[in-house]
Formats: sequence, structure tokens, C-alpha cells
Amino acid sequence: MPPVLRLGLGLLRAPALELGFLLRSCLCWSRGEAPLGDEAKHGLFDAAPAQALAARLGRGFELGPLTARSTRTILRSNLARLDGLLRLADGLQLPAGADGTVRAADFGSGDFHYATALQRWLAHHGGGRRQVVLRGFELDGHGLYRDGHSRADHARAHARLAGDGVSFAVADCTALRLPPQDVVSLFFPFLSVYACLAWGTPLSRLRPRRLLQRAVASLRPGGWLVVVDQTAAEFAKLERLLGELPVRRQRTAPFASDLAPEPERTTGQVASIWVRC
Ligand SMILES: C[S@@+](CC[C@H](N)C(=O)[O-])C[C@H]1O[C@@H](n2cnc3c(N)ncnc32)[C@H](O)[C@@H]1O
Repeated sequence: MPPVLRLGLGLLRAPALELGFLLRSCLCWSRGEAPLGDEAKHGLFDAAPAQALAARLGRGFELGPLTARSTRTILRSNLARLDGLLRLADGLQLPAGADGTVRAADFGSGDFHYATALQRWLAHHGGGRRQVVLRGFELDGHGLYRDGHSRADHARAHARLAGDGVSFAVADCTALRLPPQDVVSLFFPFLSVYACLAWGTPLSRLRPRRLLQRAVASLRPGGWLVVVDQTAAEFAKLERLLGELPVRRQRTAPFASDLAPEPERTTGQVASIWVRC
């Protein structure tokens, strides 16, 4: 379908999206923490290099709890994100507080199914074992999943599985006031109308400039903003928006990974690290 037509159809859905979001936000439906999957993990990868990499990450990053309590898709997604983050920050020293603790926030976490990957990267990147305080925040947390649990119910379960110090809250990050963070991450933030509509988020909440401003303002000087974008075009937009803010680019790297549930969908993804001035 031509992009203009796709956008047109998406715009027709916009009023329904606004109404749906309003209703969910008023209802605040919850059935308590969602149960986590426990699918068997044998034969997760066909190719030997992917198998070997997954085994290495599993051993080095304490992925036992996740492996025992996840679906195959969620385990692969965590492996892929961990793989991507490690490559992105290879050779760099992760910022941490004077007490050695890393304080981090993830903006727009969705169901936070990757909480373990993010926590393990923050705790172990470059060797050692740091204390981590990681908080995930999501605007549209009350959406209903097929199992009758809300997105927040799932996110809280994933946060708990990720370990001590990991939590989740439903919140609009454009209005967040956080104490100074060492790391703020954004995985696939909405920078365009099309991405926002495709995900089902109301257009009235699309405020990329404000979102990035809050993310940067939440960092201490020297802290890292870590962003993953779907495409090079999105990354170019990110670069323009961040050009207005007190950060300098430290590194970019492809985020494609053979470990992802659908590796072909990660082709073209771009990850970047920006340091707060
Ligand atoms: C493309 S999704 C990515 C979700 C998740 N980071 C992931 O990688 O699976 C972008 C998410 O950002 C959330 N979002 C958008 N604006 C937000 C805001 N102002 N505050 C918090 N979350 C927001 C959306 O609701 C959506 O869940």
C-alpha cells in the first residue's frame, strides 16, 4: 500500500484512538500481575553462530530466570536487545553514580518485556556487577491484552522477573520529573504521525520534541541517552531534534540482530548513544 494511503487510513482511525485511550485511562483496568510464559526453549536457533551467541549471553548475563519464565519470542527479543546494546557500547564505560549504582529510566516501555535485557546490560556491561535501579514508564499502560490482563500487568511481571531494583509505572514521560539519571533509554520512540497511528497511540500524545527534552533533562551531566530507531530516516529526525538539546553524539551502530524473533524486521534499525553536556 502506498505510504500516503496508509497514512490517510491511519488518520481516519485517529478519533477512535483518542476515545479508546481516554476510556482505558479512566477505567485503569487491572487483573494483577500477569502470569509469565514457560515455553520450552530447545531448538531456539537453527544457525550455529546464533546458538553459540545466545548460549554465551545466557551464561554471562544471568538469563536463567528469564529462560525459565518466558515465551520463545520474549526470550529472543531480550537476547537481541542485549546483543545490540553490547555492540553499541562496546569499549565504552557505562556511567554510574559515585556509589557504583546505575540509575536508569526507560521512556515508553510498552509492556516492558525487555526489562531483563536492559537490567543485565546496565549491571554487567564491560564486566563486573553493578547495582541497578531501573524504572520503566509507559503512557498507554491500561490497554487490554488477549489474556484479560493490561499492558501494565504484563510490564510489572517483566519488571519483577528482571530482579531487585526494577519497577514499572504508567506515566506520561513528557511530564516526568526524575532525580538525575545515569542512563535514559528510548526504544523506538514515536517521532512521526505514521508510527504513532500504527501503534494505536492517540495523535494528541505525539510530542517527540517534548519527550526528548524531558529525557535529556532527566540525565546528569555525563549521563547517557540511549535511543533505538526503526529506520535511518527516523534516526535522521532524531538527530535533528537532539541538535537543539545539550547532548553530543557518542556513537551509532546498527541494531539488527539474528537473535531477534523476526531478524528481517530489525534490518535498518539504528541505535545511538548521546552524552549529556
Ligand atoms: C513503538 S512503542 C515501543 C515500546 C517499547 N519501548 C518496545 O521497544 O517494545 C513506543 C511506546 O512509547 C509510548 N509512549 C509514547 N509517548 C509516550 C509518553 N509521552 N510517555 C510515555 N510513553 C509514551 C507508546 O505508548 C508506546 O508504547
